[in-house]
Amino acid sequence: MSHPDLIKSYFESLDNYDYVAERVVPYNKEIHEKILSEVSIWAPKDFDLVDLGIGPGEVDEKILEKYPGAHVTGIDISEKMLDSARLKLHKFSERAKLVKGDFDFADLGPERDFIISSIAIHNSADDDKMKLFDRIYDSLSDKGLFINADFIAGEDPQDDERDRRWYFHFLEQHLKGTELETWIMHAFYEDNPAKLSDQFKWLGESGFRKVECTWKKMNLAVYVAYK
Ligand SMILES: C[S@@+](CC[C@H](N)C(=O)[O-])C[C@H]1O[C@@H](n2cnc3c(N)ncnc32)[C@H](O)[C@@H]1O
Repeated sequence: MSHPDLIKSYFESLDNYDYVAERVVPYNKEIHEKILSEVSIWAPKDFDLVDLGIGPGEVDEKILEKYPGAHVTGIDISEKMLDSARLKLHKFSERAKLVKGDFDFADLGPERDFIISSIAIHNSADDDKMKLFDRIYDSLSDKGLFINADFIAGEDPQDDERDRRWYFHFLEQHLKGTELETWIMHAFYEDNPAKLSDQFKWLGESGFRKVECTWKKMNLAVYVAYK
């Protein structure tokens, strides 16, 4: 199975991602709040935002509620995830657009004020991440921001080992049996989290003038890249 098909079938297999997220993404709510607060710092009255791997659209619902001038486009490879997002976001009618596609290839559109992503880009291979960062840069308006919250790899083998053990323990505390086995397989063998230092280097090569890590705990970080 190709990697995009693997990701798609994995997320299609989850009956209730909101239930799963609490158990597999440490600090999930805190991360979403952090994205919202980064958007709030810079939000103009009207803006255009793209969410890569929108999932059930939790952050986007908050953004659309808070900012009546916001327009959101959510891209996701999984129809099931888009169905959940549709349920949450249909009340915003044309302000919320949902697109089925692979963000490693999808058209991200022109003149976006924000491109955000949470717990999604670590699924992509490093080569695809680099190409994606180029496309994100091209798609942002002059003062556009890319805000990414994601699993990361440790900077050195010891940090990486510590973070992986910590995450393994977190999963063991929250899941059991097949659920635990499935997620360990997904997190430790199929995912491709990259070091922050590598991601910052690639973002610089894509043209971003500054990248700042604004939140970090164990194997998770939120950063903002300024065009
Ligand atoms: C762990 S969920 C996170 C969902 C949401 N961003 C959140 O934080 O609640 C990851 C989402 O990214 C989507 N995804 C992963 N890789 C993708 C890709 N290459 N293209 C589009 N969607 C992708 C999955 O289908 C899934 O909905």
